[in-house]
Amino acid sequence: MFTLPHQFEFLSDAWLDEARRFLERETVQRKDRLGGRPFSVAERFINAPPHMTCADNVAQWSMRYDGDKVTVAREFDENADQRIEGDYQAALTAAQFVGLLAPGAMKAMLRELRAVYGKDRLPRIAGSLPDPQANELMGHLHDHLGRRTVENPDLAHRAAAQGLTANIREMEETGYTVIEKAISPDFAEDVRHATLRALSEHNTISLQWMLYHGREIELLALNPKMMTLIDASLGRGAVIASLSAIRKGPGPGFIPNHTDYSHVPEPYPEFAMTGVGVWALEDWTAASGPTWIIPGSHRMRRAPRPGEGHNGGVPIEMPKGSAVYFTSGVWHWQGDRTEPGERVTLHMHYNRGILRSLEPKKVDPLHRNPPRLGEMLGEDDWFDKMAGIGRDHVRFQHMLQLHKFTDQKKREILETA
Ligand SMILES: [Fe+2]
Repeated sequence: MFTLPHQFEFLSDAWLDEARRFLERETVQRKDRLGGRPFSVAERFINAPPHMTCADNVAQWSMRYDGDKVTVAREFDENADQRIEGDYQAALTAAQFVGLLAPGAMKAMLRELRAVYGKDRLPRIAGSLPDPQANELMGHLHDHLGRRTVENPDLAHRAAAQGLTANIREMEETGYTVIEKAISPDFAEDVRHATLRALSEHNTISLQWMLYHGREIELLALNPKMMTLIDASLGRGAVIASLSAIRKGPGPGFIPNHTDYSHVPEPYPEFAMTGVGVWALEDWTAASGPTWIIPGSHRMRRAPRPGEGHNGGVPIEMPKGSAVYFTSGVWHWQGDRTEPGERVTLHMHYNRGILRSLEPKKVDPLHRNPPRLGEMLGEDDWFDKMAGIGRDHVRFQHMLQLHKFTDQKKREILETA
């Protein structure tokens, strides 16, 4: 398994053991509230990644409370009160969501699952738990495990499940790719409001440290499709360099042709150092002043010189809720806005884990998020952690293993093209 000791993969033996421990403890503590009323839940997901070594790649489990004792089993239970079935990767994204009992959270989570995986891969829920106390307990179990459940480390399997295999090949070729409608229009609207709120509060047209300006931004930073592109270009353990917002009205663009590498000696390395994902919170058209990119310019492995032209540049046109991700030092600039209104964007800039960041990192959001957020805040690698007593060898080995597996799977993606 590819985790630190306090984390686990979804539906692994360690995950199941933790579910059992949690339920045994909580059913005792909540005995009066549960009132001796039995309930049971079973889950079964197909297409689990092969390294999980589940029979027929089907990952499953069930739990049953008989009114007194709880049992947790590896087998599916056809007679459980509630039965949840579907695709492993989509279920894993749901399993990483923390805060399920917040008002409207379940509905919003399912809405975003649909945006990422399509409606056919959504988990199907049959039956229900009639007792609100049982529902609450299972919600807390979900969050308890969610804070400890890691992303699928098999990059090729994950990319395939998210429909991103071609995007990863395209990104190697051109230096960028677009993920269309990776979030729902409703969520794009929520993020736009949160962004404008932060900009207005600070009376500015651009702002850094956006991760700390609202739950909406935290959830966006965890977008599973964006994470897969980051892993594919920067490797695991990539960290947030900066997370910024820009508000732009009509007029010429004010960011000229550039690469996102700062102080990187030329020629740039052949591997990517930095990647930036920009979220479109309105429809992007040539008139709205989108980012322009010169496809393949990353192959020059240098920054544009003063006065060097815009030959071959293309405007990034995409509907609201999409993102463009560009990397490897590809040339790009901010386009002119020829239509009225404003463009509001979030720029998520990630660095390969061996590099320093622009923004200092704060760990406040960790308790309400899955380990994936900790990874991008540098929690899972050994940098900045050496203590008087020595190096963090556990994190060193963990990241080394993740890099090896990710490299192997990326080669698989590119070589089978
Ligand atoms: Fe840039």
